[in-house]
Amino acid sequence: MKLRVNGRIFDVAADPATPLLWILREQLGLTGTKYGCDSGQCGACSIHLNGNLVRACQVTLATIKPGDRIATIEGLSPSVAHPVQKAWDALNVPQCGYCQSGQIMAAVALLKQSPEPTDADIDAFMTNVCRCGTYGRIRAAIKQAAAEIASRNTRSKRG
Ligand code: FES
Ligand code: FES
Repeated sequence: MKLRVNGRIFDVAADPATPLLWILREQLGLTGTKYGCDSGQCGACSIHLNGNLVRACQVTLATIKPGDRIATIEGLSPSVAHPVQKAWDALNVPQCGYCQSGQIMAAVALLKQSPEPTDADIDAFMTNVCRCGTYGRIRAAIKQAAAEIASRNTRSKRG
């Protein structure tokens, strides 16, 4: 079947019960999406499906419909310049780094639905696990990215 991932169309062949996580990693080589718990708990495999945050270990190939848009960390910005990525870099958020692709994909989804998230909003939405305990820096980086996006929007409105 055909999959639209990061704006490109790929032909994939696999058992329909195969989790999307393994298609992304093993067939398409998109290894930024990580394997953690395989049970929908940790968020290491977080991606966007039609703009919504999903856990790729819990989405089977059979549930993907023609035209569905899948986005992974690799598709966020060709120059790694998405405001969330820039804030992550500026505040040195990662420690070991393993969970961070998923954290960033979750943060991007949060900021789409809540452009000025409070600490409570962040804590409620960001359920991804970080074994290194980078939660404080994640929260700070989300707020920095929110400020950057708001300032960009103001500049573009002014023209
Ligand atoms: Fe998917 Fe943990 S590997 S949620
Ligand atoms: Fe190590 Fe999050 S940075 S698990």
